[in-house]
Amino acid sequence: MHLANTALEEVDGLRFRLVAEQELRLGDHAAISALLITAFPKHVEIFRTASWYPGRPDYRLWIEGSDGALVAHLNFEQRSVSVGDKEIMIAGVGGVATRPDLQGKGLGKRLMVELRRVLIEETLVGFGYLGCREEVVGFYERAGWRRIDQETWEIDPATGRRTFSIGPNLILPANSLLLDWPGAGTIDLRGMWW
Ligand SMILES: CC(C)(COP(=O)(O)OP(=O)(O)OC[C@H]1O[C@@H](n2cnc3c(N)ncnc32)[C@H](O)[C@@H]1OP(=O)(O)O)[C@@H](O)C(=O)NCCC(=O)NCCS
Repeated sequence: MHLANTALEEVDGLRFRLVAEQELRLGDHAAISALLITAFPKHVEIFRTASWYPGRPDYRLWIEGSDGALVAHLNFEQRSVSVGDKEIMIAGVGGVATRPDLQGKGLGKRLMVELRRVLIEETLVGFGYLGCREEVVGFYERAGWRRIDQETWEIDPATGRRTFSIGPNLILPANSLLLDWPGAGTIDLRGMWW
């Protein structure tokens, strides 16, 4: 499903933008890399060479300040995955970051509210899905995500091998209900995360 690029109305001096990956300009990649470098200082080398890691996403959703500067960002890819013997359409979410000097002011939460709206109104995905570090689980839970910590197969970007992990992973109900998620069974992402 192709989503239209949007520049939504300015709210409180903030503009929300949804952009398909293939329509990003060089300047967009540079601005996203710069934001990710400041938000993930341990991964400077990764984001110096690309504005995503490890899997290339389909879409970017970001917030710009009134001066046009990028202040918060996430990316997602729509993918069918298996959970046990069920097929589920997910939006795999990654690259979630708020500019460090603006963290703790509600921007990350607003980005998540906008993500859920986009997934419900403009896609057919059942759930948002992500894996994260233990330290940020609380942020996602406050934004409506539900921790599942279910066993997951994925491709390890360092080795290219299929590897097994267990949490933290979380889901965000979009066009399906929370109770529709198969609570038992191994998730197979069939590739790298985003
Ligand atoms: C995690 C991150 C995106 C949060 O963004 P933010 O704009 O600072 O978050 P918000 O101000 O919108 O916080 C929303 C709520 O989550 C809470 N919260 C924020 N970070 C949290 C954390 N690490 N653990 C628990 N709760 C957290 C806030 O207190 C706030 O709570 P409230 O709803 O009760 O007021 C931001 O800290 C960041 O960019 N961190 C570095 C990059 C990173 O780790 N990204 C996640 C990768 S998986």
